[in-house]
Amino acid sequence: MKFLFQLIISLVVALNAPNLLALAPGDRVDNFQLLDQNGEAHELYYLSDMKAVVVMTHGNGCPIVRNALPTLKNIRDTYQQKDVAFLLLNANLQDDRESINKEAVEFSTDFPILVDETQLIAESLGVIRTAEVYVIDPKTWKLAYRGPIDDRLAYGAQKPEADAHYLTDTLDAMVAGKAVKLAQVDAMGCLVNLPESGRREAHAQISYSEQVAPILIDRCVACHREDGAGPWHMTKYEMVRGFAPMMREVLRTKRMPPWHADPHYGKFVDPRSISNDDMKTLVHWIEAGAPRGDGPDPLAKLDTSWSEWAMGEPDLIVEVPAYDVPANGVVDYKYPSTDNPLDHDVWVRGIEIMPGNREVVHHVLASVFDPSNGRQRGTLGNLGGYAPGKNAVPYPEDSGLLLRKDAKFRFQMHYTPNGKAMTDVTRIGLYFYEEPPKHSLDQLVIYDASLTIPANAKAHQGKVEHVLSKDIMLYSLLAHSHLRGRAAKITAHYPGGDEEILLSIPKYDFNWQPIYALDPPKFIPSGTRVVLDMTWDNSAQNPANPDPSKTVFWGDQTWEEMNVGWFRFRAADDEDRRKARLESEMRQSAAGSRQTQASATHRESNTSTH
Ligand code: HEC
Repeated sequence: MKFLFQLIISLVVALNAPNLLALAPGDRVDNFQLLDQNGEAHELYYLSDMKAVVVMTHGNGCPIVRNALPTLKNIRDTYQQKDVAFLLLNANLQDDRESINKEAVEFSTDFPILVDETQLIAESLGVIRTAEVYVIDPKTWKLAYRGPIDDRLAYGAQKPEADAHYLTDTLDAMVAGKAVKLAQVDAMGCLVNLPESGRREAHAQISYSEQVAPILIDRCVACHREDGAGPWHMTKYEMVRGFAPMMREVLRTKRMPPWHADPHYGKFVDPRSISNDDMKTLVHWIEAGAPRGDGPDPLAKLDTSWSEWAMGEPDLIVEVPAYDVPANGVVDYKYPSTDNPLDHDVWVRGIEIMPGNREVVHHVLASVFDPSNGRQRGTLGNLGGYAPGKNAVPYPEDSGLLLRKDAKFRFQMHYTPNGKAMTDVTRIGLYFYEEPPKHSLDQLVIYDASLTIPANAKAHQGKVEHVLSKDIMLYSLLAHSHLRGRAAKITAHYPGGDEEILLSIPKYDFNWQPIYALDPPKFIPSGTRVVLDMTWDNSAQNPANPDPSKTVFWGDQTWEEMNVGWFRFRAADDEDRRKARLESEMRQSAAGSRQTQASATHRESNTSTH
């Protein structure tokens, strides 16, 4: 009888829901990836080995959330051993990663709180209030329950004990493989402001011609064009419309555009990322049915011919030995090498990499090494790298790399078969200085070859660190692991005690090996400890993992692992030190007196000699 009553209540609630697009039990929850308050990535469908996934909506300053959290913690402590995953989701307009982190620390909230900056995920869940739990069944990705944890809390009131335990009842049923009895209960919590939620008609007015196509041209067409790296070509509206649902999926899961640095840390040259606003425009337009609307089709009129040598005719062209790329399968990284044809030393001022076949060359790292001292390993990409959409690598002004006449070129070639067998001959164009430049580019490679990754470990961590022995201007950096790489972070611990994340890759993707170039380059004082934190996923949940049952050690092959940090820099001079000092003083006067210590350190390092 009581059950029937609850069923009626929940039906009434469902009918009265203010958001007509609200997700109802039985509806499918589409995949997404979001970063949490600590910058860690969480993808919903990664949790496919769980019995249930609980997502509770969160908001800073909401008393009902604060009251619900201890209960949720207790539930988690019991149910996480039963393969139930727990996440919080914050889509508040007024909250951001920093404020969420602050409140989490203050209230000892140790759940990952996913920050839904675009609100797209909350919109698709039909979020109305905070403190509502969504229980998702990973077998079907359907919503099994939405509503409060229990009936203990009310607005401004709470009972000492709950009478109805909605969440644990749901979880007990799911863990036991039984049907969930009560799938929806009216939730109490603070209303979340989602201004775009349910505005399908307004979103149908988004102009393909004036809003959507320009974003695609700016963010996607570098690869998704004739003979480009992308598997399909954005040549006209009809193509985009056909791929629209897939575009929505890759945008929500952050697979496209392929850019893996957390935008909260560091500023880089030519980031391939997409802004939150552009992402909203694309997804809202797709969700409104991807209408053509009026106006010309900018994609149809695009000149997509490939330019030869953007930096001009090279002084030397080096051919990478030809490689026959098969029609399908996985091609392991190739490491061809070739001799330097020059009979004299030259200073290189930049390179340009011209893939023989853009459809199959996924990336190239070009290096020179001196065969006499065998320093092959430490040269990963010291000349520069190619990733789709980026050919030219001009070096910083007045800086060059000395190419010795007896050096050898070595390449890391990543080929991705695309359905047709073809032969690739990639060319490297080199550009020389007439006079030796003021600065010599240098590189630092840090690695830990003693790594051991246990079988089935989901998040095994490794660390490499190095203390700089001179002041440097840092230009670019790269963190490298293989198929089991899950996340990487490079942090500078300054001598004054401050620390700064230089690069964070929350979801490492072995397929993409971009070199991250800092914009502008960064002065880093002697005594700074740079730390690379690598996380590997050796579990079956990592779709790239060739064998979760193997303990993995260091090795060149992709089924072995690496933990490598690479830095391109030059020695800093007095002018750099002067500028860095000025900048840090300006920052301090802006930030008040808190950082006086750091400036003292900068001054100290100026007087040290190298
Ligand atoms: C730097 C090159 C590059 C850029 C920029 C890029 N893509 Fe892609 N895209 C690829 C490649 C390569 C693939 C094939 C899968 C892979 O390698 O990850 C792909 C695959 C896709 C797919 C098919 C997914 C699949 O693998 O089934 C979609 C859809 C897509 N991209 C959409 C986009 C959209 C939308 C943008 C812009 C917002 C974009 N891409 C930007 C290179 C790119």
